[in-house]
Amino acid sequence: MARKVILDVDPGIHDAVALTIAMFDSSLDVEAVTAVAGNVSAERASRNAQATIEQLDPPRLPRIGTATDPDFGLPSDARHLFGADGLGNANFEVAELVNQHPSEKLIADVVKAHPGEVTIVALGPLTNIARAFQRDPSLPGAIGRLVILGGTFEGPGNVTPAAEFNIYADPLAAKMVFRAPCTKTLIPLDLTSQIVFAYDFLERLPSEESRAGRFLRKILPFAYRSHHQHLGVEGILMHDVVALVAATNPELFTTEEFAAEVETTGEITTGATVIDRRKLPGQRRNLEVALQMDALAVNDCVLRGITRAAQATL
Ligand code: RIB
Ligand code: CA
Repeated sequence: MARKVILDVDPGIHDAVALTIAMFDSSLDVEAVTAVAGNVSAERASRNAQATIEQLDPPRLPRIGTATDPDFGLPSDARHLFGADGLGNANFEVAELVNQHPSEKLIADVVKAHPGEVTIVALGPLTNIARAFQRDPSLPGAIGRLVILGGTFEGPGNVTPAAEFNIYADPLAAKMVFRAPCTKTLIPLDLTSQIVFAYDFLERLPSEESRAGRFLRKILPFAYRSHHQHLGVEGILMHDVVALVAATNPELFTTEEFAAEVETTGEITTGATVIDRRKLPGQRRNLEVALQMDALAVNDCVLRGITRAAQATL
């Protein structure tokens, strides 16, 4: 039985690669792709989510949620890493959306239609998830599992020394979601930064004979240039893709429960995830943190997922 998932994304090249893999994974039933502002604006994230689905044209089209900006605006974006359009300046044409569904409403509708069955994979800021919980306070109890890409366990942030991008972009939303009564698994930068997809990954992408190959070859080169220029990395860190594997292949990851909070007022620490490693008696441990993974097997899952997408789009 395919697992029902909602992919909450802020495409962003790496989110788009995760979507490419997910859309052709027969173990997943992608009920919805919901856009959230983060790497790019709400409007651009919505366009890019739709453009990705249109370029890939999967056998089963997911419902698409449109994003609106966070209540307090976006403190930063990632266009320097992903291009002015967020997808490597591929500037894909996009058909005008006729029925625009706000992402938070779509999330609530899908979860309530399948109580206990849906895994939400949050690959961007937690704005939509928090709004869905505000909209329907019973929603956390109806979610099967919430996989969150974000935060750090012990390592440094990537947008400030203390904060990872997704949490930093909407810390109040993250604080609320961390406290919500649902099964949450945090996939922190400490883990997702362990896999660098080197230049051979780019060279070995599927050919342009497939829609997936054409799409990936259009969006990925920009990321290699930007990671070299801005991060000094000889390759790319696809955090979103690793987090997707954590949702599809949890057996490859080791998790541990902790009490965790989000800093929302620190002058230099806003957006930091504060994970209490003391494990005090009687503590409310509100989420699981992925601490280790079989990196080789995760990398293999990614390569197989891309091959599968190419074979399905010839
Ligand atoms: O910190 C990495 C995360 O921030 C990734 O999800 C990337 O796409 C951005 O959203
Ligand atoms: Ca993302």
